[in-house]
Amino acid sequence: EKGGYEHFMLKEMYEQPQTVRDTLNPRIKDGTIVIEELGMSEEEIRGIRKIHIVACGSAYHVGVTGKYVFEGMARIPVEVDLASEFRYRNPILSHDELVIVISQSGETADSLAALREAKDKGVKTLGIVNVVGSSIAREADKVMYTWAGPEIAVATTKAYSAQLIAQYLLAVKFAQVRDVITEGEVAAFLKDLQKLPEQIEMLLSNKEKIQHFANRYIAAKDVFFVGRGIDYAISLEGSLKLKEISYIHSEAYAAGELKHGTISLIEEGTLVAAVVTQEDLYKKTISNIVELSSRGAFVLAVTNTGNREIEKAADYVIYIPQTNKYFTNSLAIIPLQLFSYYVSVGKGCDVDKPRNLAKSVTVE
Ligand code: M6R
Repeated sequence: EKGGYEHFMLKEMYEQPQTVRDTLNPRIKDGTIVIEELGMSEEEIRGIRKIHIVACGSAYHVGVTGKYVFEGMARIPVEVDLASEFRYRNPILSHDELVIVISQSGETADSLAALREAKDKGVKTLGIVNVVGSSIAREADKVMYTWAGPEIAVATTKAYSAQLIAQYLLAVKFAQVRDVITEGEVAAFLKDLQKLPEQIEMLLSNKEKIQHFANRYIAAKDVFFVGRGIDYAISLEGSLKLKEISYIHSEAYAAGELKHGTISLIEEGTLVAAVVTQEDLYKKTISNIVELSSRGAFVLAVTNTGNREIEKAADYVIYIPQTNKYFTNSLAIIPLQLFSYYVSVGKGCDVDKPRNLAKSVTVE
């Protein structure tokens, strides 16, 4: 049932191009985005004053990306919350806001409680859910499914990728309806979205190179992930993937925060993965990389094809193909997933069922 793959996680990583297609294609009709299940009129979409994104774990990291994407592209203010915090902080919500709850399983206790809290306060709710008919899917006012199919490995990969796509579709749709982007921009966004599956395939085909690199780090004690903007959101997910399946301590930091404390942890040979996909922030992150290297860090950079500048600063570079700046998460996460996977395999960990973790956290 693993379809010839050694682990479900590897199989699910390889399903990502298809998952992206399945989440994307049914919602693009004649060159426009149609999200029927949203059930919102254009007037309602124009009336959204604020979006709250609430989730746990990797789904929360999708939300952190969402903040940059909805704010940057659609100019709608976004608050992102961990569901376990949102549910107990008596959040301030009003009827012209939208609460988006993201969950693969649709059964995560805190996310479900957060959804109920939002509904009690009379605000519109939308679930981005993978499991059809799950509690969150049933209870949210509207549900947008991520068509990733069953995900078995505890570490999410394909559901995460599908959640990103659902969010991009919403952001482009909202931006278009609210007239903050041109029709030409919409067409360009759709073109870039449709290229993602092939680009993900290409990144997956690079697995031997990443396996080789990962084998050098199976004895690592600490790994740091850094980035700015969307690259910070990608770092959060890269770090969680590594720690959950390889048991290596890892942390993600907004690159600009390093010198406020964390840089004191860097020693000779400490691995730092720097995510550098936001062109307007290249220079800033590269100067952080220089600071890290001068304190002995070994810097792995994940960046866009064409960013030659980085080769002078980083020790090892993985390039991702060109896409729109809002969509780089879908590509940059692939080598980081592969890295975590191969570190875990190299250490002989139980990749699909890491210790102390459950696929679906139904108790708080
Ligand atoms: O089913 P959900 O998407 O609500 O689950 C949320 C988290 O428990 C989940 O993303 C968790 O962090 C994963 N194990 C990460 O790989």
